Amino acid sequence: MQEVIDKLSNEIQKGLSKQMHSRSTVKCWPTYVQDLPTQNERGKYLALDLGGTNFRVLLVSINGPDDVDIQTQAFQIAQPLMACPASALFDFIAECLDNFVKEKQLSDKELSLGFTFSFPMRQLSLAEANLVTWTKGFSCDEVVGKNVTKLLQESISRRGTLKVNIVAIINDTTGALISCAYNHKNCRIGLIVGTGCNACYVEKTCNVEMFEDYQTSQKPNMIINCEWGAFGDNGVLDNILTSFDRMVDKQTPNQGKQIFEKCVSGMYLGELVRIIIVKLMEEGKLFNGIESSIMHENWKFETKFISAVESDPPGIFEKCNEVLNECCLNDASDEDKACLRYICETISTRSAKLVACGLVTLINKMEICDLSVGIDGSLYRRHPKYHDLLMDNVKKYVGTDVCVQFFTSDDGSGRGAALVAALYKDNKSKKC
Ligand code: BG6
Ligand code: GLC
Repeated sequence: MQEVIDKLSNEIQKGLSKQMHSRSTVKCWPTYVQDLPTQNERGKYLALDLGGTNFRVLLVSINGPDDVDIQTQAFQIAQPLMACPASALFDFIAECLDNFVKEKQLSDKELSLGFTFSFPMRQLSLAEANLVTWTKGFSCDEVVGKNVTKLLQESISRRGTLKVNIVAIINDTTGALISCAYNHKNCRIGLIVGTGCNACYVEKTCNVEMFEDYQTSQKPNMIINCEWGAFGDNGVLDNILTSFDRMVDKQTPNQGKQIFEKCVSGMYLGELVRIIIVKLMEEGKLFNGIESSIMHENWKFETKFISAVESDPPGIFEKCNEVLNECCLNDASDEDKACLRYICETISTRSAKLVACGLVTLINKMEICDLSVGIDGSLYRRHPKYHDLLMDNVKKYVGTDVCVQFFTSDDGSGRGAALVAALYKDNKSKKC
């Protein structure tokens, strides 16, 4: 773990530096978010959330610290939409937004909007960003390298009915940090352990060389979107990768990319477990010749099954039986079930240890002794032991004088995006 921490620290240092940036895998993008919420923010905001399990449209009313109302509508992004041309994707988003606004009877109101777009992007200003690369299975044409805000704005304009002003485009990690910072003033890190995995943290502006005004800005801090999912894309993690990791990577549309993410996040952990089980079944070491066509289908063993299997108390296989049932492996022995649980534990524990390495790297870098981390994402929320595993492993590697607390961050893409919109609604966008 110490070796991983040292390597990540090196990549982050390069990512922040103008001279070394192109040689880093961990890009440390400036977010242009230089303020944390004060609880004085007020107003009604629209928000969009693309990049997690569901696409969501939200209406957030901030009336005071104890009174934030969120209305939300979720849509599944079907597989074809993840690989369609840009116009189809953004027209779909604009249509969902339009219908939502009509339903809420807000069509005549001019509203500010915060767009949570959870992919690597190079910000041009707080409100505009170019997509650097797709991750998490998306591969829509004509978006990489393009101004995502413009694409959305064009689709919105084509509808001709919406009066929205896109004030900010943020990453989900930023949303998680801001949402948590609203209630915990010492929040300095936002972490997502969901479909993908990534973190952001508060850096001194003078260290953010990729920000044009890094030497002259009046504001002392800026949130940095690490994009640590790409850590290892240059081979520095090859010594810890297994043949199973390499097999999962081969099945993805972005082969050789997002190597760290593929070892830790919800999109990939179920598949890792499936591949290990299939190997053991083929060697005759597991499930004693029972045939399951489901287990032979790529991506069919979902990460939520890992959480279910690990939820059972020792010696009990209630949830495990439900999972085996879904996988057509009904006649498994208790020994097989214990073995399945061991495989799940191994994969989720490795994930938590690697994510802990990431947190330790950021905590050491910030050199502060008292901080909170705002965390969101389905794997973190649903896995019965992830929080404890993460906390125990972070504690092992940070100094004894450091006090770290973890908080589940409520609705970063809603509350967080709306708070950023509130903080900057009067901003004139500034290009770098
Ligand atoms: C949600 C946040 O709760 O978690 C999103 O509001 C974020 O912004 C998501 O992308 C990440 O989790 P998952 O599991 O949906 O990828
Ligand atoms: C992927 C994206 C990143 C996002 C993370 C969590 O790593 O590239 O932007 O924050 O998933 O959703």
